[in-house]
Amino acid sequence: MMPVSMVGRARELAELDRAWSTVVAGRRPAPTVAVITGGAGVGKSLLISAALDAFAPRPAVVLSGTARVHSPAPYDWLAAVLSGRDTTRLDLPPDALAWLAQHPTAPRERYAPGALLRLAVRTVRLLVGAGPAVLLVEDLHALDPASLNLIGELATATELPALLVVATRPAAEALAPDLAVRALSRLCGVRGAVRQHLGPLRPADVAEVLTQVYGGPPLPARLVTAVWRRTGGNPYALTELLAAHSGQGPESLLWPAPAPRAEMPSRAAESGPVEAELTGREIEVLGCLVAGMSNKQAAKALGISVRTVTVHVSNLLRKTGSSSRTEVALWAVRHRLATPAPVDG
Ligand SMILES: Nc1ncnc2c1ncn2[C@@H]1O[C@H](COP(=O)(O)OP(=O)(O)OP(=O)(O)O)[C@@H](O)[C@H]1O
Ligand SMILES: [Mg+2]
Repeated sequence: MMPVSMVGRARELAELDRAWSTVVAGRRPAPTVAVITGGAGVGKSLLISAALDAFAPRPAVVLSGTARVHSPAPYDWLAAVLSGRDTTRLDLPPDALAWLAQHPTAPRERYAPGALLRLAVRTVRLLVGAGPAVLLVEDLHALDPASLNLIGELATATELPALLVVATRPAAEALAPDLAVRALSRLCGVRGAVRQHLGPLRPADVAEVLTQVYGGPPLPARLVTAVWRRTGGNPYALTELLAAHSGQGPESLLWPAPAPRAEMPSRAAESGPVEAELTGREIEVLGCLVAGMSNKQAAKALGISVRTVTVHVSNLLRKTGSSSRTEVALWAVRHRLATPAPVDG
């Protein structure tokens, strides 16, 4: 099947481009932070790579890392960044560098945690140099606590000419949900932080993908709607559906579904049992709180007024018996309440 080019997300691309301009202009004393949340397969990684491709001028440095192993080791993000990179010229103690790079011969237990954190920040500073740089953190939800701490430090590091882009699934899916909630709140609290919560594709976006794949005149609305419903507008599910029916005509997309993938819970299952009887809107607002958004950011993401968000938040506090936003977010995590994405448009 032909690879499909990105549809929708124009607003998000433009916003990331503006964030990059602030870095290039050197207007900010600390990095510009962009946090992109969304469920599995919603298109976080594709959005980021499309945004990076369009950045002008090109970043002088891109440091990109993700959790690489099933049980992440300390500073896994940095180890991924260092992997395969020539670090011989960096002015750092070789032992420390070996440790941070998770080199198998690295001496164990030589550095106090605080000292390692400072060395990790210094390593990033040396790699960024005069910038402008992009620091890309993929899948924050799967990262180890030391990496989360490092990312938080970098977000507020002075004179680091960089755009810090973080992609994450909702904190409820994190290895350490409580830590992920805290890390996200810290990142989102940085002044001028850009917050994007990716929702499913709209039917018009699905129609565009289908046209890319099948060519010819636009497909009947009935078919587009059926495909949109079947996939919940999730681009990954759409890609899978298209792959399962490749070589057949578009009508085949309506044939009985292939067995669903275990890792893609249906939206019905996601919104799961709710002990506290939350409304759909409250669950959406809760998702925003778990993602560390402010009321203003949640209002923007959901397309409702800040005042309405405030009302939902106070209802959430009451219904869950919580005394703060963080407590509500942790409540959601404990109840493994996933966060259905707000539907745009
Ligand atoms: N806007 C889009 N238009 C067309 N295809 C898309 C779009 N977004 C994502 N896709 C396709 O859907 C699939 C999943 O996207 P991607 O890997 O970016 O999701 P993700 O949010 O990063 O998922 P994960 O949480 O698993 O990291 C990819 O094959 C990607 O090419
Ligand atoms: Mg991804």
